[in-house]
Amino acid sequence: MIAPSILSADFARLAEEAAVVSEGDGGADWLHVDVMDAHFVPNLTLGLPVVESLLRATDTPLDCHLMIDDPDRWAPGYAEAGVHNVTVHVEAARNPVMLAKDLRAAGAKAGLSIKPGTPLEPYVEILKHYDTLLVMSVEPGFGGQKFMPEVLDKVRTARRLVDTGHLTLLVEIDGGISADTVEAAAEAGVDCFVAGSAVYGADDPGRAVRALREQVVSATPHRWAP
Ligand code: DX5
Ligand code: ZN
Repeated sequence: MIAPSILSADFARLAEEAAVVSEGDGGADWLHVDVMDAHFVPNLTLGLPVVESLLRATDTPLDCHLMIDDPDRWAPGYAEAGVHNVTVHVEAARNPVMLAKDLRAAGAKAGLSIKPGTPLEPYVEILKHYDTLLVMSVEPGFGGQKFMPEVLDKVRTARRLVDTGHLTLLVEIDGGISADTVEAAAEAGVDCFVAGSAVYGADDPGRAVRALREQVVSATPHRWAP
């Protein structure tokens, strides 16, 4: 799955920017929406009112990545609004198991994100309550940063836990994904690839999405065979 991040889109034209990556065969599977509160990360983006407008503007499922303090309080509102996958940071959540239950009860998939320096092992039991694991491959806060290949060890561990039946979740990666890095991430076992600047910085964002998908499929054909 490819999830373009609208962090690198034109915020004054979000409906068109959503459409341009979603149209046609091989378009975006999810639209990744980065919510930042200037507390959990040193940047400020958008919140629930903009997400509600986006939900009305596109049929592509929204993947909201909440880089905010106190997600226990704020994240369920995104699920209730109709966001498909709501991801919170384990470093910010007070009660991540309860929060996952709240998100699912509101009809969303529950996602848990870990920053590059956060280990995976302590959270394996908690992840049994989640539908997606978002492995950050840059420090959260800004688009256009350099991919950190060292996080792929966590992807490999998560892939093993899923393939051996210990966890049931999608492994998602976010940060620095481009034509240069997407194949390594695919080989490590990623299911869902977030890409911001590599998509919206391209002359043809729709084509950039399809090109990333083709690279993933050709790097790991055994995983996508019918
Ligand atoms: C960063 C965000 C990412 C960002 C990725 O904190 O979580 O989703 O948009 O941007 P690129 O793909 O440019 O690294
Ligand atoms: Zn993100």
